[in-house]
Amino acid sequence: MNYRHIYHAGNFADVLKHIVLVLCLEYLQRKAGGLCLIDAHGGAGLYALDSEEAAKTGEWEKGIGCLEANEATPADLKLYLDLVAPDLAGRRYPGSPLILARSMRAQDRLIAAELHEPTFEALHATLKPYKNARAMHMDAYECVRAHIPPKERRGLVLIDPPFELKDEFNTLARQMREWKKRWATGLFMVWYPIKAHLAVAELKEAARELGLRRTWVAEALVRPRERAGSLNGCGVIVFNAPYSVPERVEALLPRLKEAMGLHATAAEWLVPEI
Ligand SMILES: C[S@@+](CC[C@H](N)C(=O)[O-])C[C@H]1O[C@@H](n2cnc3c(N)ncnc32)[C@H](O)[C@@H]1O
Repeated sequence: MNYRHIYHAGNFADVLKHIVLVLCLEYLQRKAGGLCLIDAHGGAGLYALDSEEAAKTGEWEKGIGCLEANEATPADLKLYLDLVAPDLAGRRYPGSPLILARSMRAQDRLIAAELHEPTFEALHATLKPYKNARAMHMDAYECVRAHIPPKERRGLVLIDPPFELKDEFNTLARQMREWKKRWATGLFMVWYPIKAHLAVAELKEAARELGLRRTWVAEALVRPRERAGSLNGCGVIVFNAPYSVPERVEALLPRLKEAMGLHATAAEWLVPEI
């Protein structure tokens, strides 16, 4: 377990993932019933952008560093920017568990898992002020298995592995089938990297074959998809995508492309409404 998100916090990939996350949550919260939010690969929850690690890659400067709210900012983008603004002012960037914890209502709860011990300690400290949020020192997929279907019957699961393991794409395809058996109506979000040698097409095919309604994917590319030896982009697959969220994200993609100087963006339905 060598991956440390501090090197990448606030980069283009975090921006895409966190926008999709925020819009999904906003839609789910339009109903009063409580939500169960599961962040299976939590990370530390908060990252210092002026740390040596973040400065070493400078990734955030080409990501969140390029996005500033002004009068012309679309409301959906502002929703996300307003959530991260308090941290940015202090040269920090919030991870997904903190974004979720901050957005929760009294009736919602958050379970965030993290396996790497020091990162778990950091996550635990980050979530401490939020009484409905719980950091768990456990494996992501075990955590999901232990908590779905949740008693609330509504909520979301974020899967955001570091992809250090060679067979992570196969693991994901297997896990997806298990999630369908356990909670076919659950909103699952799966983040994945785009690199020339990775089986991205197979992963999307596995998602399509699963046949869960409203399976949708959005991608952001910083380089041509087939360039060897680099991270060329990333994508987010959403199962049971809430109404309006795909269209709202798609409306923001040209703006994100321009602001962050992306090579390209893409979005498609893998399984539309059945
Ligand atoms: C990409 S980072 C998470 C970033 C976070 N979701 C966010 O958006 O702010 C992936 C995290 O998963 C953790 N991790 C790796 N393998 C894990 C596993 N099997 N179970 C739980 N966490 C794991 C890593 O230590 C790392 O902190």
